[in-house]
Amino acid sequence: MTILGIETSCDETAASICKDGKILSNTVSQQIIHSKFGGVVPEIASREHEILLNTVVDNTLLESQIDLCDLDAISVTQGPGLVGTLLTGISFAKGLGIGLGIPVIPVNHLEGHIFANFLADESLEFPFVCLLVSGGHTQLWSIENMGKYLLLGETRDDAAGEAFDKGARILGLGYPGGPEIEKASIGGNPNKIFFPRSLLSKDSLEFSFSGLKTSLLYFMDNFKETKTLTLKDVTASYQMAIVDTLVEKVKRALNKTGFERCIIAGGVAANDCLRKELDKVLSKKHIIFPELSLCTDNAAMISYLGEIKQKIGGYESIEFSALPNLKLN
Ligand code: KG4
Ligand code: ZN
Repeated sequence: MTILGIETSCDETAASICKDGKILSNTVSQQIIHSKFGGVVPEIASREHEILLNTVVDNTLLESQIDLCDLDAISVTQGPGLVGTLLTGISFAKGLGIGLGIPVIPVNHLEGHIFANFLADESLEFPFVCLLVSGGHTQLWSIENMGKYLLLGETRDDAAGEAFDKGARILGLGYPGGPEIEKASIGGNPNKIFFPRSLLSKDSLEFSFSGLKTSLLYFMDNFKETKTLTLKDVTASYQMAIVDTLVEKVKRALNKTGFERCIIAGGVAANDCLRKELDKVLSKKHIIFPELSLCTDNAAMISYLGEIKQKIGGYESIEFSALPNLKLN
């Protein structure tokens, strides 16, 4: 079965071909226009998708050497995301699907991030814990099987990706903040400044990052770089406070569920410091990360999950709409 996946939930215009469980192409065009605004401007993002979608889809077909007439179905992100950008992708997918006379399958973006881990590790088996860490979500899930998802805990305020993005703004770095802070931390001492870790009560699986962000804001009010305290030390210490919190909560979730495996999903999974700390602290457990291009928003996860859903069946109708607040369950 050959599926074209389309992803436009935020500022990445992405398309991918999945054939019989294998990704043949994974094309992403990141809209750099937003960096000058320090965050994604929804209206501009929708217009950019409109401009880019034809080319991105053409390129992914070319790279995979698949013709439009070879496609069995199209899968497209239904939500969560920005309503305008989701609608752009969905309208494109429906138009193409109707033209070709093939089904159009709505895919949950969050479920896509989770299933990207099956591309990372073909031997991955249920059950497992999932740490879902993106720009809009920080959640811990107990994943028992496909569709059997139990929320263990989530953030009470900012998401981890948001803590990176807002922190980067305070530090005078660019957008998106995660990769910027990661780069700026190289060579810095992560133990130089102790930023607060909000671990809440002893067994809590909830998160809170707003206090950490405020503490960075106050710290930067009086900060002057010296030979013994550099900006690198500040960024590395801030990054470590986020990472420490995430690692501790994963540890608690594995203890609570008794599961042996944990997958890390979403853009923050690309963070090297997080990867290293999880491997170090939880060396006896099986921690799985997708490769970098499958951590941040991409369409490979949408085409891959689309194929699984199409095999299960039931996607004859195209009467579905964008769901900006779609949940995992
Ligand atoms: O999953 P994603 O690409 O989009 C959403 O669905 O939100 O996640 C985007 C988030 C942003 O907040 C970005 O700063 C963060 O992931 N991110 C990172 C890294 N790469 C992306 N955070 C930390 N380290 C990174 N290397
Ligand atoms: Zn995402």
